[in-house]
Amino acid sequence: MTEKLIAPSLLAADFGNLQRDIEMVNGSAADWFHIDIMDGVFVPNISYGMPVLEAISKHAAKPLDVHLMIVEPDRYIKKFAKLGAQNLTVHFEACTHLHRSLQAIKTEGMKAGVAINPHTNVDLLKDVIKDIDIVLIMSVNPGFGGQSFIENTYKKIKQLKELILQNNAATLIEIDGGVSDKNALELAKAGADVLVAGSFVFKAENQIGTIKNLKQLANS
Ligand code: DX5
Ligand code: ZN
Repeated sequence: MTEKLIAPSLLAADFGNLQRDIEMVNGSAADWFHIDIMDGVFVPNISYGMPVLEAISKHAAKPLDVHLMIVEPDRYIKKFAKLGAQNLTVHFEACTHLHRSLQAIKTEGMKAGVAINPHTNVDLLKDVIKDIDIVLIMSVNPGFGGQSFIENTYKKIKQLKELILQNNAATLIEIDGGVSDKNALELAKAGADVLVAGSFVFKAENQIGTIKNLKQLANS
């Protein structure tokens, strides 16, 4: 079995002490930094943009997993590559020419991800599954941290796993939203490869211990 990965979401970090929180993740069992970029159009919230990502990139010692919750993501693909993103995930619902967007991300040397909202059926990815390195299943409605996990996600993970196996694809399944010690084991068992956790990690008293615990649960 391949190792399950943990990606703390910096959206829940203390922005007044961002370097401290990045160093914490550097020294933890986490695998990736999850970076949420929101434009206030695709989602009803604005997070942070290029200058902040540049600062994160300087201190982060692990891959940057960038989740774009923005319209017209194609306009910024080159820029995100320059800023050091290793994974670049666009939303299915924001891309008219998804196949083209995926190729453009790969041309820039990044892993190409596609995120799907809770209402989007995994079968819609059928014709591009072999072109996708990571499918990010939103297990809350995108835009905010700290929301409750949507239980229908388990069904979607199983359907997606099936689709990946049928197509002999190497796509990773990433789950984003409401992840905690209550669902990490079940998500991993259902077929999730990467778990994103924001508030559960950063609101914890012992953040290092919380990441370690998630990692152990996902790999048990
Ligand atoms: C939500 C973001 C998530 C968010 C997860 O739109 O995509 O990455 O940071 O936060 P939690 O883990 O608090 O649900
Ligand atoms: Zn995210």
